[in-house]
Amino acid sequence: MANFAFCKDFWGLVRFDISAFLNPKARPLLGLDISSSAVKLVELVANGKEGYRVERYTVEVLPKDAVSDGNIANMDGVVDAVKRAWKRLGTSTRNVAMALPSSAVITKKIIVPAGLREDQLEIQVESEANQYIPFAIDEVNLDFQVIGPAPSAPDELEVFIAASKKERVEDRVAVADASGLTAVVVDVETQAALSAFELIEKQLPGSGKNMIIALVDAGSSMMSLTVLRNGQQVYAREQAFGGAQLTQDIARHYGMNYEEAEAAKRSGSLPEGYEGELLSPFMDNLALEVSRALQFFFTSTQFNHVDTIVLAGGCAVIPGIDEVVATRTQVSTLIANPFANMVLSTHVRAKSLLADASSLMVACGLALRRFDPS
Ligand SMILES: Nc1ncnc2c1ncn2[C@@H]1O[C@H](COP(=O)(O)OP(=O)(O)OP(=O)(O)O)[C@@H](O)[C@H]1O
Ligand SMILES: [Mg+2]
Repeated sequence: MANFAFCKDFWGLVRFDISAFLNPKARPLLGLDISSSAVKLVELVANGKEGYRVERYTVEVLPKDAVSDGNIANMDGVVDAVKRAWKRLGTSTRNVAMALPSSAVITKKIIVPAGLREDQLEIQVESEANQYIPFAIDEVNLDFQVIGPAPSAPDELEVFIAASKKERVEDRVAVADASGLTAVVVDVETQAALSAFELIEKQLPGSGKNMIIALVDAGSSMMSLTVLRNGQQVYAREQAFGGAQLTQDIARHYGMNYEEAEAAKRSGSLPEGYEGELLSPFMDNLALEVSRALQFFFTSTQFNHVDTIVLAGGCAVIPGIDEVVATRTQVSTLIANPFANMVLSTHVRAKSLLADASSLMVACGLALRRFDPS
């Protein structure tokens, strides 16, 4: 994918000198996604020339509100979960690639004059960036990547900048440290998910060329719609909707606490009436939200159709959800599986991975950082 190649050693270069010295190929690392519902770890290794093998993965459910709005609210709870997850993974790799939620990162394309020396470019970017960042520059981690000549003016350069408050980066790094791990890369969730999406795009007819693809991530508390065309993001929007609503309904309906309801939902151990009374209405709701999000996309852009929907996130695991969404939206719908073309190691059970794959986009994208060219 052409856009946002900046992510190749994004915060990594700025904060973690170690990654600049070591060849990533010789540097095993795990993808560690700390999302609002769970800690997810993925380890990939090279398999042949261009392929990958899923060596290990694990999902450790977090207590409610341990992570809220992308903030680590309960540090001890999160660290415990990371430690448990790492132990269960059974790897010796302690280097991790982590991600910040997109809400914690300001990204912007800016234009600067071409032909600047490296140090001049840095100064120019910093002063331009200042306009878009509502914090003092010494309170933020700022990174940038030159995209190329500006389309409108060949004597100017397009530069992609990303900035986040230092404490948001430090929070994540502190979780890794306290869990006995080392953060060697700190990426942005959306960018990591897009790396995983590149693998899914290859599964589409004609590798998705010229297709307008709606990537919908229905997680625990948020649903995001990202529309992509030839690797370029043409639209993105998030809204408050997710599986936590169903968990709450289950808790209320069966008199359980949230954690019990979440566990019962994931293990599929709910009484017979559950499907008709709670699950089906939730699936209909989800499809309606997708359809509304698409309508909103159509009315606020020049686009009036999408060719396919790729459904990611933990809600995509629900059996039959693809059909409900396809029927409601009249758009063919595919469940995201970034591992579809990967070989599995003996540590990985194919059936479990298939069930978890759609919720592992970010963790997979982070695990792919191991293969970045140095
Ligand atoms: N087998 C399952 N059946 C139904 N729902 C499931 C299943 N497995 C996971 N989920 C739901 O998926 C949601 C978690 O999805 P995901 O892991 O994508 O979210 P997240 O990334 O933690 O949250 P967010 O993106 O909102 O921050 C939870 O609501 C969870 O209950
Ligand atoms: Mg998520």
